[in-house]
Amino acid sequence: MSRRLLPLALALIAGLAGAADGKAVYAANCASCHQPDGAGADGLAPPLQGTLGKRLAVRQYVPGIVLSGLAGKMVSKGVTYTGMMPSWAHLPDAELAAVVNHVLGSFNAAELPAAHVPFSPEDFAALRASKPTAKQLRAWRAETD
Ligand code: HEC
Repeated sequence: MSRRLLPLALALIAGLAGAADGKAVYAANCASCHQPDGAGADGLAPPLQGTLGKRLAVRQYVPGIVLSGLAGKMVSKGVTYTGMMPSWAHLPDAELAAVVNHVLGSFNAAELPAAHVPFSPEDFAALRASKPTAKQLRAWRAETD
């Protein structure tokens, strides 16, 4: 096979296997607010870089906010953000798992707890059944402060 065709063939195989590309999902849906490198933007959205390792102490929190969205005040690294995080429940479970694993694995790699297990589409399917409320999400986040 020619070198030019190889990446195309690999992408096709990944597509057939149903593997979602977390980096691409992030670029298409999250980067406009959280910025391409996850640094966040003042007045718009908090950083997702080096801030989420400790949030995994309540495992449902990060997938929960991506599934349900959240509006209101959030303090991150001493800065208050008052914005609107949309719900991404319209994305398939495989894409949700892939984008969260991308955010954790690329922007928070240094802080991931040793016992952390990447999220699976099944984790999102289970969480969908009990779509977390804003009150629940705030309580989970406070627990991990
Ligand atoms: C329209 C802008 C916007 C987009 C697009 C967006 N977010 Fe957010 N995100 C926010 C805001 C604002 C908050 C803080 C919510 C609050 O103030 O209650 C937030 C919070 C978060 C948090 C919690 C951070 C913490 O410190 O607890 C995570 C995780 C997150 N977003 C992930 C994502 C992912 C993944 C995507 C793409 C699928 C995404 N966001 C897309 C605006 C956005």
